[in-house]
Amino acid sequence: MASYSFTCFLLISFLLSHSDAQPFSSSRPRGVVLPFHKDPSTLQYVTEISLGTPKVPISLVLDLGGKLAWIHCGQKQQVDSSSYQPVDCKSPQCLLASSNSVQIPQCCNKTCSISSTNTVTRPTSSGQLGSDVATVQSGYEPGQRPYLWLRGENVTARRFAFGCGTTSLNGLAKGVNGMAGLGRSGLSLVSQFSAAFHFSRKFALDFQFGNVYFGGGHYIQETLRPSFIYTPLISNPYNQDYSTDYYIGVKSIQIDGENVAIHKKLLSINRKNGVGGTKFSTLLPYTAMETSIYKAFTSLYVKRAKAMNITRVASVKPFGACFNSSTMVTSYPEGLVVPHVNLVLTNDVVWRVVGAKSSLKYVNDNELCLGFIDGGLKAGTSIIIGGHQLQDNLLEFDIPRSRVGFSQPLFQLVGPTNQLVVG
Ligand SMILES: *[C@@H]1O[C@H](CO)[C@@H](O)[C@H](O)[C@H]1NC(C)=O
Ligand SMILES: *[C@@H]1O[C@H](CO)[C@@H](O)[C@H](O)[C@H]1NC(C)=O
Ligand SMILES: *[C@@H]1O[C@H](CO)[C@@H](O)[C@H](O)[C@H]1NC(C)=O
Ligand SMILES: *[C@@H]1O[C@H](CO)[C@@H](O)[C@H](O)[C@H]1NC(C)=O
Repeated sequence: MASYSFTCFLLISFLLSHSDAQPFSSSRPRGVVLPFHKDPSTLQYVTEISLGTPKVPISLVLDLGGKLAWIHCGQKQQVDSSSYQPVDCKSPQCLLASSNSVQIPQCCNKTCSISSTNTVTRPTSSGQLGSDVATVQSGYEPGQRPYLWLRGENVTARRFAFGCGTTSLNGLAKGVNGMAGLGRSGLSLVSQFSAAFHFSRKFALDFQFGNVYFGGGHYIQETLRPSFIYTPLISNPYNQDYSTDYYIGVKSIQIDGENVAIHKKLLSINRKNGVGGTKFSTLLPYTAMETSIYKAFTSLYVKRAKAMNITRVASVKPFGACFNSSTMVTSYPEGLVVPHVNLVLTNDVVWRVVGAKSSLKYVNDNELCLGFIDGGLKAGTSIIIGGHQLQDNLLEFDIPRSRVGFSQPLFQLVGPTNQLVVG
C-alpha cells in the first residue's frame, strides 16, 4: 500500500539564503557520460554517480520513464554529507517536483516534501526533496571521425536535486541506493544536467558499450551503425501533466511481412483513461504486450517458424513459445535465420527487431524462446518495449524536438566475445 502521509522528519530547518533556478556547475562540459552495467540477476541497468561532500558513490537503477532520482535515506531523511541541503518549498526545484505529479509537494518546515516511487515493485513513500553536489564524468567528441565519445575530467552539478526518504528498495538490484529517472520531467537527470551544464536536453542510451551520453552530438562510429532513424515522441493525452514516460506510435507489427492481427484501438492512447499505446521501459527485461496482441503475435511467429522447419519445444517460463536451435539454419551475416519482426511506426519508419539476438532468448544451449511476454488483459500500456529488444539499438531522446532516434547495427552476428561482428 502506498503511503501518502507527508510526515516531516526534519530535525533541523535550514535557512536557505537563495533559491536560484539553475543548479550551477564548476565548468561547462560539452556532455556528460554515465556508465552503466546490466545487473545479472534482475536484468536492470545500474549506474553510479558520486554525491555529496566527501564524495560517496551512489548506485542507482536507471529508469527511462522515471521522474527524478531518489535515494533510500531512511527515517533521518538526509544523506551524510556536509553539502546536503533540503530543497526550500518556495524554490523552483520544488515547483518542478509539483508538475508531472498527482501528489502536490507539501511544505514541511519550509522543506519540499515529495513522494518517491520504486517503479519496479511500486511502493511509494514520502520524503523530502534534497540537493547536493553531484560529481559526474564529462564527455566530448574528439572532433574527427570515427565519432566515439571520449571521457573527460570530472565535473560537478552543485545543486543536484533528488528525493530522499524511506521508499523501499525491494525488487531492485542488490546493493543499489535508489533509482535514477530519465523521464519527461524537469527534475530528471537529463533536465538537471542540461540546466547545470548548459547543453541541450538530449541523451542517448548506448547498450553496447553501457553508457548514457547527455548533451547530444555524434555518438556513433559510422562503420558500425548507420545514422539515426527518428520517430516522434508522443505524450499521453490523458495524463500528460504527470506521465513522465516516453511513448511512440506503432501502426502495425509485421512478421516476415505479414501483419499481426491487432485491434487498432489498442495501438492508440485512450484520451479518457490514458490506456493503450506503446512506450519504452528499461525496467522490463522483455517487451510486454497486452494479451490479445501477445497471442496473435506468438501464433503468427510460430506459424512462420514452422514454415521454416523450425521445431517447437516445451515452453520455458515466462516465455510462451520456444524452439530447438539445431533446427535453425545459420547464414552470414544474419546468423540464425528466424522470422523477421518489424514494428511499423507512425511516420512509416520501421523498427526492426534485429535477428535472433533481439527477438529470441537462449534458455539453454539448444533452446531459444521468443523473447516477449504477456502483459495481461488489463495492461495499462498495450506494448512496453523492454531491455532485450532495446539493447541492440543506440537510442537518442531529443526532448526539444520531441523525437527519438534509433540506430540499429548493420549486421547482427554475435561473435564469441559478444561483440558486434562487422561483415
Ligand atoms: C519544525 O521546526 C520546528 C522549529 O525548528 C521544530 O520545533 C519542529 O519540531 C519541526 N517539526 C517537524 C515535524 O520536524
Ligand atoms: C572521477 O570520478 C571517478 C568516480 O567518482 C573517480 O573514480 C575518478 O578517479 C575521478 N577522476 C578524477 C580525475 O578525479
Ligand atoms: C521443410 O521441410 C520440408 C520437408 O522436409 C521440405 O520440403 C521444405 O522445403 C522445407 N522448407 C524449408 C523452408 O526449408
Ligand atoms: C533438436 O533437434 C535436433 C536435430 O534435429 C535433435 O537431434 C534434437 O533431439 C532436438 N532436441 C529437442 C529437445 O527436440
